[in-house]
Amino acid sequence: MNNKPIIYAHRGSSAYAPENTEAAFVRALEMQAGGIEIDVHLSKDGRVVICHDEKVDRVSNGTGYIKDLTLKELKTLDFGAWFSDEFIGESILTLEELLEMLSDWDGILNIELKQGPLQYEGLEAKVVNILHKLKRVDSTIISSFNHYSLRAIKELEPSLKIGLLYVGGLVEPWKYAKYVGAEAIHPVFYSLVPSVIHECRENGIIVNAWTADKPEHIQALALGGVHGIITNVPDVAIKLTSQML
Ligand code: G3P
Ligand code: MG
Repeated sequence: MNNKPIIYAHRGSSAYAPENTEAAFVRALEMQAGGIEIDVHLSKDGRVVICHDEKVDRVSNGTGYIKDLTLKELKTLDFGAWFSDEFIGESILTLEELLEMLSDWDGILNIELKQGPLQYEGLEAKVVNILHKLKRVDSTIISSFNHYSLRAIKELEPSLKIGLLYVGGLVEPWKYAKYVGAEAIHPVFYSLVPSVIHECRENGIIVNAWTADKPEHIQALALGGVHGIITNVPDVAIKLTSQML
């Protein structure tokens, strides 16, 4: 029998609170998620901030690109009201603020670098510096669809784990992971086949699948032997996986 997968709260517990906000992260902690996934960008004044999209329009009452707004300007926006009135007043968090908030938490933080379609010069170095400053290098995995960005992370800090995000059915991705120097692959869950999970395990490559919310998908991934499941409903995934394994 495989070990129980680590359940990562995708953008926090984002089915229950506005994604990538303190409220969503607090709920992830309350649900005892073993991991939390976040997305990061750089503000106009070079601060690492947590948000999924390049623009603030969908998840706040503001408009425009994060790269064109200073942290002070971003902090004037409401990032909770779009989700429901209960969350009016949520503001964007910097990576430092989240790490301070998680200082007593022993879970794994998965930081996804949003390095495309926009490119943020210096994002990798800033993230590495913040992780060093707040002593979170050992319990973090950096992921990105931009694998050049992950290579840059490895050059800056070889001990930091990296996970290769991708969509689609790659052939022998464990070989590619080794070639790039990655500890993990982060495939979209529906592209995974049992042989890939098996070979990754044989080759010491971690498999963290995203983003599975339906019980049947969560169960199939857990039975298939993935190391991590990234989900918007960590409470559901924790309950299901604790019952079955
Ligand atoms: O890291 C897994 C997942 O978050 C990747 O896609 O668009 O939700 O950031 P996205
Ligand atoms: Mg993400």
